[in-house]
Amino acid sequence: MSEYRVKLLPSDETIGVRPNELILEAALRQGTDVVYSCRNGTCRSCIHQVVEGTVVQEDAEYCMISPQELADNRRLICLATVRSDAVLEKVKPGKRLNA
Ligand code: FES
Repeated sequence: MSEYRVKLLPSDETIGVRPNELILEAALRQGTDVVYSCRNGTCRSCIHQVVEGTVVQEDAEYCMISPQELADNRRLICLATVRSDAVLEKVKPGKRLNA
């Protein structure tokens, strides 16, 4: 099965992510040390900035991420998939930005 290559910053680790596989699931499958908690889009601990690539926020309407954050290319990787190779940078969860 082909995989997309996703580089995680600042650790600089690159993981393989299968089509339609959640990024967090892929990271855990490969033993990558990533910050997460709820795994359902509510705690925001896994938020990343998309630096390169196409990253889709699945179930965005149910996630604690605002339209403005989505427009700014931020994603909660526990509920995100990729459509290309990508580079993601961890950011502090902070407060949800309102649209
Ligand atoms: S792990 Fe909680 S929002 Fe992603």
